[in-house]
Amino acid sequence: MTTDAKILAALRAHPEGVSGAQLAEQLAISRAAIWARMDELRKVGYDIEASPHFGYKLVSSPDALHADDLLARLGKTRVVGRDIQVFEQTTSTNDVAEKLARDGVREGVVVFAESQTKGRGRLGRVWMSPTRKGLWFSVLLRPNLRPQETTQLTVISATALRRAIKTVVGITADIKWPNDLLIGGKKVAGILTEMSAEVDRVRHIILGIGLDVNQETNEFAPDLRKIATSLRIEAGEPVCRAEIATEILRELDLDYARILAGKFSEVADEWEAACITIGKNVAVHTGDRKFRGHAESLDDDGALLVRTEHGLLERVIGGDVTLEK
Ligand code: BTN
Repeated sequence: MTTDAKILAALRAHPEGVSGAQLAEQLAISRAAIWARMDELRKVGYDIEASPHFGYKLVSSPDALHADDLLARLGKTRVVGRDIQVFEQTTSTNDVAEKLARDGVREGVVVFAESQTKGRGRLGRVWMSPTRKGLWFSVLLRPNLRPQETTQLTVISATALRRAIKTVVGITADIKWPNDLLIGGKKVAGILTEMSAEVDRVRHIILGIGLDVNQETNEFAPDLRKIATSLRIEAGEPVCRAEIATEILRELDLDYARILAGKFSEVADEWEAACITIGKNVAVHTGDRKFRGHAESLDDDGALLVRTEHGLLERVIGGDVTLEK
């Protein structure tokens, strides 16, 4: 952890205030150095009071994401979030993470952007990523899995997101196959998993996660208002992005450890229970094929099993699945 991350962690651990002398001892730097860091933190928006009686006290944090603050809030994790980078703007955080992967950076690094100029969704769609309104981030992983097992990572992203939303906002989101999170039937988050692999070995995976956090209804494009929502709209108040970001990473780290320990079936059960696609009539659009049917269940590897109008059981592993009334 950097000095700033350690200072922010100490301030959060002592909401009543912490003395400069105590901090200096804990971090093994001078009181003057602590004072200088506090000044820098104030410049980027942290409201830190200093009084002879209470010492330093964190009054409020800025809405902007800061890597040191995210690391301080997150604390120690096994893999996910061991390193965090925050950019003011990128094309797509998946592109940045892909470059890190090619440069040989170890797994677990998370790349956030306050806005993306070329945010992308599944099936070549555009992903709107307005400045500081949501969480737009990518996680680099290098799991020891075969390419066909990587659906597991999309699955754990969805369950981690869902649990984090429940913990921070108290709302239970649904999962729409394969990887959308919905609240009240409207999409609040999406996951774009991109992979580099050889025939039987994954080189690396980039999990790209987009979560709409603080948009108001009128900030969504008119054609999206009926189908998209944000945590703020659903909770009725603004939501702290740093808090939910770190909760997602903590949950993802736990589930990643679960799948590496061979316990994917535990996560899969949780996912299946939250997946609203099962038991519904659906329209499936994959490549140039379109068909209707009844979504019966999930296969072991996360594929959707759909009974067609003609009685055949189809395994759906990609494409677009719409719920029918
Ligand atoms: C979808 O629902 O189609 C997936 C949306 C994924 C969006 C995220 S935002 C962060 C990362 N960077 C991107 O360009 N896309 C993903």
